[in-house]
Amino acid sequence: MSGTDAVSASTEIHDYTQLKQLSEDQKAELLKLEQAEPGADSAIGGYRILDNQPSAKLLSGYTIPLVGLGTWKSAKGEVGAAVATALRQGYRHIDCARVYQNEHEVGEALEAVLAEGVVQRGEIFITSKLWNTDHEPARVEAACRKSMEDLRVSYLDLYLMHWPVTGNVGPEVQPPLGDTWAAMEALVNKGLVRSIGVSNFSIRKLEHLMATARIKPAVVQVEAHPYWRNEALRAWCSERGIHLTAYSPLGSPDSAAMLKRADDAASPLRDPVVAAAAKRLGKNAGQVLIRWALQRGTSVLPKSVNPERIKSNLEVLDWEIPADIYEQLSNLSHQQRMVDGSFWINPAGPYRSLQDLWDE
Ligand code: A2P
Repeated sequence: MSGTDAVSASTEIHDYTQLKQLSEDQKAELLKLEQAEPGADSAIGGYRILDNQPSAKLLSGYTIPLVGLGTWKSAKGEVGAAVATALRQGYRHIDCARVYQNEHEVGEALEAVLAEGVVQRGEIFITSKLWNTDHEPARVEAACRKSMEDLRVSYLDLYLMHWPVTGNVGPEVQPPLGDTWAAMEALVNKGLVRSIGVSNFSIRKLEHLMATARIKPAVVQVEAHPYWRNEALRAWCSERGIHLTAYSPLGSPDSAAMLKRADDAASPLRDPVVAAAAKRLGKNAGQVLIRWALQRGTSVLPKSVNPERIKSNLEVLDWEIPADIYEQLSNLSHQQRMVDGSFWINPAGPYRSLQDLWDE
């Protein structure tokens, strides 16, 4: 069909070339038809057009789409397909990191989907993270450029300091986190990255960083789900206009063995309150957890390499958790960090205990 033909419920679009040829009006019409008839999305083949994705405005002036695909633990050979599926299904935010060792494959998928022409680079939000071994200010730009090269992008939407950790042993973190931050600020000035932020920081470490920062962190990315609400940090960020992104929103079930979690039986995905909410709302547990994160005002990064779950994890935009259930989910008594950072603890410092790391 051409860009001037009328579309109807029986219009079938089988490939991306066809979809690319649709006019904006035709796409809008197809979207309306799809919404009017749930389950009829096969009309647009492997593509789903979601024009009204919620997003938040960052201190940097840019916007961040609220649902992003997580890629931590997404294996080589799987991550590329997951990213392509996600983008075709309407995700506009992909969360990456150098240490995940899969950015190259993410980049191939990005390039392939962008070449299909339906989504433009400017519509996609790509995050990467500076790894601990690259905190030396002289190393920061090269590390960032390596991620950009692997991801095949000419700029990053967001670059995060991955942990307040450099691997040095001794009383203080060396180089100081503020020095690394200054090198990240230079990336903004050079136009390599649009926004900068931190991950796995406590309020105290953020206050310390901000005392010398020229650019405030636009985003703080931390673990957050009903079993680890991280409420004090969320409130602190919210008062300052700093956007909070929730990682491991499903409780990171696939990291239990790797992180030697003592109690891997506790999982928000299996929580009875979550299960009851899912049943009452006609949703699955994953969707309830992702929707809860959105209603809290955070962005959220469910990780999946499974096409059905990738799709269903984004089906959280056109319904709400009612206030009574939201309150229940926001008051679960079991609280447990799944990614507790115990791998950074060293009796010789700088972090001698989890209390040193998280300032709790
Ligand atoms: P898979 O990649 O096979 O879908 P988190 O986002 O908290 O880190 O959790 C990621 C883990 O949860 C992965 O093991 C992922 O497996 C699984 N997962 C992703 N989406 C869902 C879902 N909707 N329901 C249950 N498990 C899910």
